[in-house]
Amino acid sequence: MLDSLKKVDEKIYNVVLNETKRQRDGVEMIASENFVSPAVMETMGTTLTNKYSEGYPKKRYYSGNEFIDISEQLAIDRAKELFNAEHVNVQPHAGSQANAEAFFSILNIKDKILAMDLAHGGHLTHGSPVNFSGKQYAFFHYGVDPETGRIDMDDVRKRAKIIKPKLLLSGFSAYPRELDFKEFQDIAEEVGAYHMCDIAHIAGLCATGIHENPVPIADIITTTTHKTLRGPRGAMIMSKELDRVKPKSKKSLARKIDSAVFPGMQGGPLDHVIAAKAVAFKEALQPDFKLYIEQVVKNAKALAESFHDLGATMVSGGTDNHLILLDVDESFGIRGKKAETVLDEVNIFTNKNMVPNDRGTPYDPCGIRLGTPAITTRGMKESEMQQIAKWYVETLKNPDDAAVKSKVKQEVLEFIKEFPLYPDLEY
Ligand SMILES: Cc1ncc(COP(=O)(O)O)c(C=O)c1O
Repeated sequence: MLDSLKKVDEKIYNVVLNETKRQRDGVEMIASENFVSPAVMETMGTTLTNKYSEGYPKKRYYSGNEFIDISEQLAIDRAKELFNAEHVNVQPHAGSQANAEAFFSILNIKDKILAMDLAHGGHLTHGSPVNFSGKQYAFFHYGVDPETGRIDMDDVRKRAKIIKPKLLLSGFSAYPRELDFKEFQDIAEEVGAYHMCDIAHIAGLCATGIHENPVPIADIITTTTHKTLRGPRGAMIMSKELDRVKPKSKKSLARKIDSAVFPGMQGGPLDHVIAAKAVAFKEALQPDFKLYIEQVVKNAKALAESFHDLGATMVSGGTDNHLILLDVDESFGIRGKKAETVLDEVNIFTNKNMVPNDRGTPYDPCGIRLGTPAITTRGMKESEMQQIAKWYVETLKNPDDAAVKSKVKQEVLEFIKEFPLYPDLEY
């Protein structure tokens, strides 16, 4: 395996070997990452990457799409079954693009959107001034209650009534609690807005019913496919067939979304990735996937309990989902950037993250975000979470102590051998 690559490009061959080793030797706690199955990975490295197929199944702008049509239709049908969706578009190349396309399908430039504050857990595409979203649309934000660290739905309603947005956006990149999608939908209907949920992070939890599934509730739902859903890098948009807000418009909501994706914002779809999405959705429909997601949440709760016992401060005091936000500034007197760096030195991979009312900056915030999807894929359970929490605390309490860091790294390297990653991969 990889023989041709080795012959053609030794430098990239070495990148692949080194990255595989890095993944094998580390405790991957980045909440947005996961390890795809060998079947998903194989599918991405096939001849499907060679095809052009602008358009949709049975309506293509290129010939020779009879097999690609089967693959895309399977991805659509399986996603519909998985999420109980009326309409699915599996072509978005990434989560950010899916959001851009969803906005483009129903909004005009400068229309008002009410979304979660970035510093409280929202995503860049939810109105950051440096992102296309913040530049093209008029964003307003809601946040979390400073006391509880939770979204206050009365406050969301109050803001929605004053702002009268055209779109109410729910969803997050860093919020450890369950969302009340029905309440968001009610508020959107009260003010005549669309309700869009971005479930990029919690898609696996929604698909398995561990978190409420917003797909039968909201107008539009976007998600990445590579986080808790454990598929290839990419995204999809799900929606209602009909446009609730503009019932008299000539196009249905489903058609508006399809034409926003193609020809609105994309050209040829990534057929090798769409086929891999179909494979991942088949995997997610199996009973084993629900057990996996249940374990993801149990592990996150066990980790939170251990952090609590060790005296660390978490936003909202714990978690209901797959992620935790640790206030490392308050807990250990160290900022997020340094915390990320020293944890990397001991082979624990985490990302710096803002916490609500952060005292730092986006590049050097007070928190770190950690999640359990990837380590659960490797087979870890609650008892391993205690050990991981201890390493976090030991490292973050002694960020400049080389002896402590060297000891923790050795322990991590020994520990990780018990959880082999891609044991059958020949590289
Ligand atoms: C809530 C949310 N939406 C959208 C995205 C964007 O996805 P991508 O990185 O695939 O563009 C992310 C990624 O982190 C996310 O967390």
